[in-house]
Amino acid sequence: MAIVGSPRIGGNTEILASEALKAAAEEGVETEMVRLAEKEVKPCDACLSCRVTRDCRIRDDFQGIFDRMVEADGIILATPVYFGSATPQIMALIDRAGYLSMARGRVFENKVGGGIVVARRAGQNFTLAQLIFFFLHQGMIVPGSTYWTIAFGREKGDVVKDVEGVNTVRNMAKKMVWLIRKIKGID
Ligand SMILES: Cc1cc2nc3c(=O)[nH]c(=O)nc-3n(C[C@H](O)[C@H](O)[C@H](O)COP(=O)(O)O)c2cc1C
Repeated sequence: MAIVGSPRIGGNTEILASEALKAAAEEGVETEMVRLAEKEVKPCDACLSCRVTRDCRIRDDFQGIFDRMVEADGIILATPVYFGSATPQIMALIDRAGYLSMARGRVFENKVGGGIVVARRAGQNFTLAQLIFFFLHQGMIVPGSTYWTIAFGREKGDVVKDVEGVNTVRNMAKKMVWLIRKIKGID
């Protein structure tokens, strides 16, 4: 599954994430995209009640997204760079999913994670690290690609002109499928 953390529907992040999902589908797997722009995921308020209840007390769209993440074998998190950082939308999901995962016994262990970042000009490496640090914290496994999974664009659709960037995320998605099959002992 790919979770798109841009507030801009149909924007560069979504285009890149859909290219990744298309590449994964070419390998014969089921794919799904979640656009956080269409969902409400409030920030973690550090109530820490998830440690006791093993649930998140905040009622919004998070629960459904978290359930899908738990079911998925591979999770792509995609974000544009906003002031040198991942968006608040994707960080809210990371914070709440990370804490709830720990409360439930580290439910993302051994899943495969992939990060995708779009920038106009700068901040892309730090932002990619934000995504990858989540995967590594959760005991997930992160495959490589043919470059770092970053592409450039400003206006909606610009990113398709970054052919190397698009191919890099496509190659990552194919590597994710390869890795998932190895982990699950398929072929
Ligand atoms: C509030 C805001 C902050 C941004 N900050 C940065 C930045 O720090 N570095 C950068 O390269 N691009 C920055 N951008 C540009 C976006 O990353 C770029 O337009 C990207 O393609 C947007 O992706 P989207 O089409 O998926 O929304 C910013 C855009 C916005 C709206």
